[in-house]
Amino acid sequence: MVGQLALMPQIQNKFPKTRYQGSKSKLTNWIWDKLSTLPFDTSLDAFGGTGTIAYRLKQEGKQVTYNDALKFNFWIGQALIENSETYIDGNEVDWILKAYDRNYPTFIADTFPDIYFLDEENVWLDKVITNILQLRDTYKRSLAFFALAQSCIIKRPYNLFHRKNLYIRTADVKRSFGNKTSWDRPFESWFRHFVKEANRAVFCNGKTNQATHREVNEIDGNFDLVYFDPPYISDKGVSVDFRDFYHFLEGLAHYEQWASMIDMKSKHRRLTPRPNEWTNKKQIYRAFERVFQRFAESILIVSYRSDGIPAESELIRLLARYKSEVHVHRYRNYQYALSKNKTSNEILLIGC
Ligand SMILES: C[S@@+](CC[C@H](N)C(=O)[O-])C[C@H]1O[C@@H](n2cnc3c(N)ncnc32)[C@H](O)[C@@H]1O
Repeated sequence: MVGQLALMPQIQNKFPKTRYQGSKSKLTNWIWDKLSTLPFDTSLDAFGGTGTIAYRLKQEGKQVTYNDALKFNFWIGQALIENSETYIDGNEVDWILKAYDRNYPTFIADTFPDIYFLDEENVWLDKVITNILQLRDTYKRSLAFFALAQSCIIKRPYNLFHRKNLYIRTADVKRSFGNKTSWDRPFESWFRHFVKEANRAVFCNGKTNQATHREVNEIDGNFDLVYFDPPYISDKGVSVDFRDFYHFLEGLAHYEQWASMIDMKSKHRRLTPRPNEWTNKKQIYRAFERVFQRFAESILIVSYRSDGIPAESELIRLLARYKSEVHVHRYRNYQYALSKNKTSNEILLIGC
């Protein structure tokens, strides 16, 4: 039965709902519509994030390589893209959630009191990540990690870890926003929920797909088509630093090394920052240029915003250096609340 389900992806399988900055989950059909007539079999999703675009390509029978610089995302890519036939069953979930007669580490409880989660939740996290890391099967481990990471995200105000703001959740106030029911639902209950979501997403498309964990400049191999959805830098030069916004999940994915990665001077115990040319308005031009040159033999696809840095016209010019035809598609017009004449469009550039 499981085998039959696994071979009928379009009908049976469902990509989990995402709660991640810049997720393209609402645009997958639109993007696929623009790619469907292009001649390609092998593909790379170079800035994979939640994996929603890689998954859509997998559903369409393409051979897919998912990549993301962050390890927590890589594990999610491994669970949902590379994995074609491994599931976690109820006994395994019970095993992961049980406390064994051992001294569990207390790293999260000691390091993050009163920052993101309640004390007893921090103790639970130390136990469950320790149990997950004992799983010997790579895909069961990454599926379980997916469920743990989603449980952490959904229990956070704004679904982020950028501030020490547990008080938003615990304050006894009348609320006009937020989802206190989700924040207060126990970790264990969310974990079981997200294991089901992950299991539902697993399928085989008959190809060998893989997940990698590289800086974009260090990805090996050649692909018929490469899709780039890098962090977006606004025209004011403001960008999303994913490693900073989701540092807690990146720490969890490096649980045993986490202590050495933390900037203990920061109130919210972030990871020590690392430079990234994709979030630097002076370096991003060169970063685009380098990847276009590196993958110049491939069909190049870029998701960006029309009002960013680089500007749409600059991206087109850059692509045209490597590709003879450049097409631009616009999803829809968004108007900024405070500006009557400035619009920001989600754009898809195709260089072939
Ligand atoms: C806009 S998000 C991608 C969203 C994704 N398409 C989705 O639908 O979920 C950009 C991603 O690029 C990753 N990233 C940032 N800098 C990177 C780099 N230098 N190399 C590879 N990945 C990087 C981030 O971790 C983040 O997940």
